[in-house]
Amino acid sequence: MDQILILDFGSQYTQLIARRLRSLRIYCEILPFRTPVEEILARGPKGIILSGGPSSVCDKGAPVSDPAILSLGIPVLGICYGMQLIAREMGGKVQKALKREYGHSGLKVRGVSALFRGVPKDLKVWMSHGDEVKAAPYGFSVTAGTPDVPVAAMECADRGLYSVQFHPEVHHTCHGGKILDNFARRICGYRERWTPASFLDEAVAGIKKQVGQNSVICALSGGVDSSVAAVLVHRAIGKRLYCIFVDTGLLRFGDRERMKKVFLKKFRFNLKIVDASKIFLSRLKGVTSPERKRKIIGHAFIEVFESEAKKIKGAKFLAQGTLYPDVIESVSVKGPSAVIKSHHNVGGLPDKMGLALVEPLRFLFKDEVRELGRSLKIPEEVLMQHPFPGPGLAIRVLGDVTAERLAILGKADLIMREEIQAFGWYSRIWQSFCVLLPTKTVGVMGDERSYENVIAVRCVESVDGMTADWSQLPYELMRRISARIVSEVKGVNRIVYDITSKPPATIEWE
Ligand code: XMP
Repeated sequence: MDQILILDFGSQYTQLIARRLRSLRIYCEILPFRTPVEEILARGPKGIILSGGPSSVCDKGAPVSDPAILSLGIPVLGICYGMQLIAREMGGKVQKALKREYGHSGLKVRGVSALFRGVPKDLKVWMSHGDEVKAAPYGFSVTAGTPDVPVAAMECADRGLYSVQFHPEVHHTCHGGKILDNFARRICGYRERWTPASFLDEAVAGIKKQVGQNSVICALSGGVDSSVAAVLVHRAIGKRLYCIFVDTGLLRFGDRERMKKVFLKKFRFNLKIVDASKIFLSRLKGVTSPERKRKIIGHAFIEVFESEAKKIKGAKFLAQGTLYPDVIESVSVKGPSAVIKSHHNVGGLPDKMGLALVEPLRFLFKDEVRELGRSLKIPEEVLMQHPFPGPGLAIRVLGDVTAERLAILGKADLIMREEIQAFGWYSRIWQSFCVLLPTKTVGVMGDERSYENVIAVRCVESVDGMTADWSQLPYELMRRISARIVSEVKGVNRIVYDITSKPPATIEWE
């Protein structure tokens, strides 16, 4: 399979380069900047992209890849830091700018360049850099400039070296996709039309080869990632896949039924549904700290899962829906970021259980997983569902988690979802949920004074959950949600809407 390799110098935009290329149906992978030349050659890439990065090439100890990469005869595109690196390696002059340039800039394309074919001569681009190229290396021609940066793009077509100071991967850059497409298809000669579905046969063959005649266990949560991973593994090894679904008692209304409908009835999985709600609820009794809740739920989950998994004799593998961003994160040049919430997932399982991992989605982004899921005939209600946190409703019942409070929240949450779906807003929102507050307020119902619970509704728009904006729901939709919850859910007399973005708030309230 043809591919483009991206060497990562730590830019916040590196993943965007990959996503942009993939959306152009060009397969690419991200590797650390230090990847040895032999490893690069062994992969036979059509082209190499050097990403941006936070460092300055003028500083001592700045990250550099093996300079031999520039003379392999494989076309190279340097972006921002990557451009400065090419300039320095090839004998050009790079200078530290007095101040960082950040934001829009007007680019003027000069002369004829394959990189800018079909792109207007004047275009808006996105800049984010400290250093800049003052003099292009010998043999290079300057192909574009901005008012502040005369050398904003340069190339030496004979040697297959191209570079741009701006970020074509960022959507603020007009025709950025065309520039990347030109690099891959015109300059590198990338010919295929990659789609996540074209990955299906290869993935199935890979799983068969890895697993042999052994069995695989999977903690199926019913979320997008574990569902697609499981269906893929099932396609490869059928009944030798054993799925376990732990009902924590902290799920949304309808989740368990959907599991049965999709995975037992439709796909005919070997699926064991374990009702462990009593264990979870008893351990959460009296616990109000969000972090304690997460720890308790995480431990209980592992315990329940392990005891079920032990009953499956001879299993040597654990299937997980790990996605590409997590894989990149673990090989990237960045250090670990501060822990805001210790997210619970099943990551701790294999170490303890001595199982090898099967991670068939480890090279895919979320939208690609959905696309693959479609070609596996997984229903839209599974693929398009909003993310749901591992600790479930326990972190949405603020304070003490009891069966009664879970039931109040569950009913309100179902009504909210029904109304959002009926209004056609579900797919416009990243996440929508209700939160039961640990406080009561006064109301009037009929002629009577009431003193009941408050439900907060939270709907956000986001690309990856890292940042988020509250959704500007139509008033009519808000009105319906509010009116139905207070009239249909006993014990609730007030609804509020959360209008905080992330940051400074987080998406969940706990
Ligand atoms: P926050 O609240 O940190 O959430 O802005 C970002 C995304 O992560 C989800 N989330 C969790 N997911 N275990 C999970 O599996 C957790 O403990 C957890 N806490 C938050 C949250 O729903 C949002 O999608």
